[in-house]
Amino acid sequence: MAAPTPTKKAAPKAAAKPAAAKATAPKAPANGQTNKAVNIQPQINQQQHAPAPTQRFGTVSQRLPIGLDEPTRLSSVTMLNQLLADTITLRDMYKKHHWQVVGPTFYQLHLLYDKHYEEQAELVDTIAERIQILGGVAVAMAHDVAELSSIPRVPRDREEAPVQVSRLLEAHQIMLKNCHEYAKKADDAGDDGTNDLVVSQLMRTNELQVWFVAEHVVDSPLVRAQ
Ligand SMILES: [Fe+2]
Repeated sequence: MAAPTPTKKAAPKAAAKPAAAKATAPKAPANGQTNKAVNIQPQINQQQHAPAPTQRFGTVSQRLPIGLDEPTRLSSVTMLNQLLADTITLRDMYKKHHWQVVGPTFYQLHLLYDKHYEEQAELVDTIAERIQILGGVAVAMAHDVAELSSIPRVPRDREEAPVQVSRLLEAHQIMLKNCHEYAKKADDAGDDGTNDLVVSQLMRTNELQVWFVAEHVVDSPLVRAQ
């Protein structure tokens, strides 16, 4: 007995679309991609099961072709991170003193401290970006800066203006001594960019700030010459 031939089912008729729906159907994007619904839910808490960091602190990469070998980059990054930690500390000392200064020189110092704070903040960014260009990782957070900085810890208390000034001068001196040493090392290694940054920007700015701050602790007569 021959198997019954399957009966051909009639293809279902497409439901007639209303004329209005056809008119408003979204057009395919011009770039050829299909339209997809986008999930707008933020994928939060990814730090909790993060994979290995993209780069460890204290290492350098050769990602950017800037004509410097790895030992030179590593040496410059190490020096720049020291200068960065000290510059962040100095920047924050200026803001602390800007807030806490009292006495007859309040207005002058209040404004001067803030000006120097702004200048140090610019240096912070310049140093950090140089570290990235060299393929390093810039120190950034306060707890790491505190561990790395070579400037003595500043107390939380409010201090007299001459004490503030003396602390700032000490911090500038530490910075400048490091600048002299590191500029020479960078020059010897052939890292002209780092040498230029340290001399032209860090050294010059810090020297100028030393002048403006130091004049406030000269014991000079206010009215009658002695
Ligand atoms: Fe202020």
